[in-house]
Amino acid sequence: MEAGMASDKFLRNAWYVCALPSEAKRDLLGRTILGQPVVIFRREDGTPVVLEDRCCHRHLPLSKGRLVGDVVQCGYHGLEFDGTGACTRVPGQTRVPPGARIKSYPVVERHKFIWMWPGDPAKADPALIPDMRWNDMPGWASVSSMLRIECDYKLLIDNLLDLTHETYVHIGSIGHEAIVHHPIKTTRDGDKVTVTRWIYDHQPAPFWKAAIQRPENVDRWQMIHYAPPANIDLDLGVAVAGTGAPDGNRSQGVQGRNLDLITPETERSCFQFWAFARNFRVDDRALDQKLRDTVTTIFNEDKGLLEAQQRSMETAPPEFRWIDVNADAGGVQARRALEAALEREAASRRGQAAE
Ligand code: FES
Ligand SMILES: [Fe+2]
Repeated sequence: MEAGMASDKFLRNAWYVCALPSEAKRDLLGRTILGQPVVIFRREDGTPVVLEDRCCHRHLPLSKGRLVGDVVQCGYHGLEFDGTGACTRVPGQTRVPPGARIKSYPVVERHKFIWMWPGDPAKADPALIPDMRWNDMPGWASVSSMLRIECDYKLLIDNLLDLTHETYVHIGSIGHEAIVHHPIKTTRDGDKVTVTRWIYDHQPAPFWKAAIQRPENVDRWQMIHYAPPANIDLDLGVAVAGTGAPDGNRSQGVQGRNLDLITPETERSCFQFWAFARNFRVDDRALDQKLRDTVTTIFNEDKGLLEAQQRSMETAPPEFRWIDVNADAGGVQARRALEAALEREAASRRGQAAE
């Protein structure tokens, strides 16, 4: 493992969301990403910056300092660092010691998220940023937010890939008895996993009834797309039953796209950056607020469970083993894809160390 790395449990050479655009300001935001402290801010021209949150003088987190123009001034003895991480000034002396710098991370603002690359900067290709276009696509409206959850990020991946839990956890909004009676289909294409479920001809769950505003029964789809490390987008919706949605005609329906970009904070905590984009009533600002509240309530229901699950796992005796059921197929495939990506990264690190 590379010196200074908190863990090899995380995929390092990948884009992770580190902040929502509204969180990155003309102010210093300290956050832990993949076990490492970072400080996030915007330059005067608005471009985001992500630096190591640790002064190279005596380790004080720079987020405890001040932003002066485009320079971060340490709150202890006043050393200053520019957006590239170079120390530009040491108070009381004209010479900046050689090597006085902190790490700066590649960062890109795209699809209404701020993405950083914790790994090798030479590999930080913006073309690898996951396609989350629904969040800023014409004809769609979106709301977004973030939750910090005290659980291993892999538990949240499991949660989003097995929606049978909606019936038990979210019965007042998106849950429905019919979900568990309609099996999933799981496919894997390289590292990508897709879980598809169709729930035919039923009265919609409260959330979807409010969305479609039609009295008829509906056909409902859940198409979940996972890609490592922890990017999940869910293509969700309902259409009037029998109008051809399973064959691709969604004209009698409403669609939502729930985007979940999960970023490990530590091995037992993570951030869920989420957006809910929709193609119906896109100019309805009251609906924005309602959706923000509803989806926040839904994800807080999950958060409570995931944190209890994490604590339960931590106190389980070593011989305790969990079992898998049919509905876990997507989660199991996703874990395999993630393991394969982690193993490839570890092998490449070993290769570099041997050179
Ligand atoms: S610890 Fe930052 S200037 Fe001394
Ligand atoms: Fe849930």
